[in-house]
Amino acid sequence: MSAAVATKLRTAARMILIGPPGSGKGTQSGRLLNQFKLSSISSGDILRENIRARTPLGVQAETIIRQGGLIADNVMVKLIVGELSKRGWVESRPTLTSGVTMSGALEILSGAAAKATRLATSESPSSSFLLDGFPRTRKQAESLDEEVDMNFVVNLDVPTDVILERIAGRMVHEPSGRVYNNGWNPPRVPGIDDVTGEPLTRRADDCPETFAKRLKAYEESTAPLLEHYDKAGLLWTVRGNSSDEITPLLDAEIVRRFA
Ligand code: AP5
Ligand code: MG
Repeated sequence: MSAAVATKLRTAARMILIGPPGSGKGTQSGRLLNQFKLSSISSGDILRENIRARTPLGVQAETIIRQGGLIADNVMVKLIVGELSKRGWVESRPTLTSGVTMSGALEILSGAAAKATRLATSESPSSSFLLDGFPRTRKQAESLDEEVDMNFVVNLDVPTDVILERIAGRMVHEPSGRVYNNGWNPPRVPGIDDVTGEPLTRRADDCPETFAKRLKAYEESTAPLLEHYDKAGLLWTVRGNSSDEITPLLDAEIVRRFA
């Protein structure tokens, strides 16, 4: 965790972190939350919360995650866009055109014409947020484009051999999503979360076979996703063997764009 004083932003950052499993998305998110007082949503953490709570979505997602596959695009879009509204980071803004009848308006507001609503964002720096792990496919990105204008997309480019070594040592505090590594950023007391004192666990999808499938699923879905954001002029790629190499570069780029 950074001990530095938080850097104030001048305008709202609406960021996406893209990177292979184990590239350090969760680790970088935690640091950015401290450094820039950003809020974040991790798609993986939300799915794991649903699994713990045994929601219908969680029960469905559990099998897919254990097999190293991806959750269906429409399910993910609904989940994350819903979460953005729920947290008040964006607001549903019905865009009724003149001439819409009352029953037509009700139909729109009830969701029958969901395309007619778009999410409103504020440019106030306090409305900044970060998405970790969403979107993960071009289709998800296109759906997000319809709802909210993101303004910075970071591609974490970390070599596969480095990633495999890290995953072998990863421990997590599931309720908060805090991430540790036995070799690199160990908890103060082995096996115990620094903040709550609760036990750390290994993620069920971190076994070597599942992890290999996750890497493959990532490789297949990512090229079109990166191309999508490159075309939109939002993509910024940062390469490094360690989060300590990447963090200062990422911080400097955020300052350049938003502070
Ligand atoms: P998710 O939880 O998002 O997993 P992921 O993308 O596979 O990424 P990880 O969380 O494994 O890695 P990370 O990049 O956050 O790395 P971390 O910081 O932990 O998703 C899980 C599953 O949910 C998916 O497989 C899919 O099924 C489903 N899903 C989620 N989103 C979806 C979507 N949008 N659409 C469809 N399905 C979706 O770092 C890794 C380790 O490295 C840690 O131990 C850390 O301490 C360590 N580390 C970090 N930096 C360093 C360093 N410098 N040196 C040494 N170790 C380091
Ligand atoms: Mg993560």
